[in-house]
Amino acid sequence: MKIIVINGPNMDKLGKRDVSVYGKETLDVVNEKIKKLAAELGVEVDFFQSASEGEIVQKIGACDENYDGAVINPAAYTHTSVAIRDAIESSKIPFIEVHLSNIYAREDFRSRSLTAAVCKGQIAGFGGHSYALAMRALAGKP
Ligand code: DQA
Repeated sequence: MKIIVINGPNMDKLGKRDVSVYGKETLDVVNEKIKKLAAELGVEVDFFQSASEGEIVQKIGACDENYDGAVINPAAYTHTSVAIRDAIESSKIPFIEVHLSNIYAREDFRSRSLTAAVCKGQIAGFGGHSYALAMRALAGKP
């Protein structure tokens, strides 16, 4: 089984941005932990991060041929992007939406996700562990 982890805008700033909300871990550290877990679960994992909505849409469009499942943190695009929503909806593989923070306990505009409804499920509020839970769900090994 092969999984891709997709992160949207500003996720490359983890560890520096709004540490009280997102924590001190950098994206590299989060990804290293995911890699370790993937090895334990016996799955392959690739990573993709972009601030560009178009690049994310294109990456999602190429997922069917290359992956069996995807973990996606669309970051700010969660709340705005019909294009990313439509790309996920068109994909045949399961997507799980993750957020480091509990988007329902923050500003009102964050409590609306355009993308969650076309994902298999959503995990929010557990920091880097949100990704681990999504990996386990996709691998069918809770
Ligand atoms: C986020 C939550 C979004 O509202 C925000 O724009 C992000 C990060 C999270 O992981 O908690 O960039 O997706």
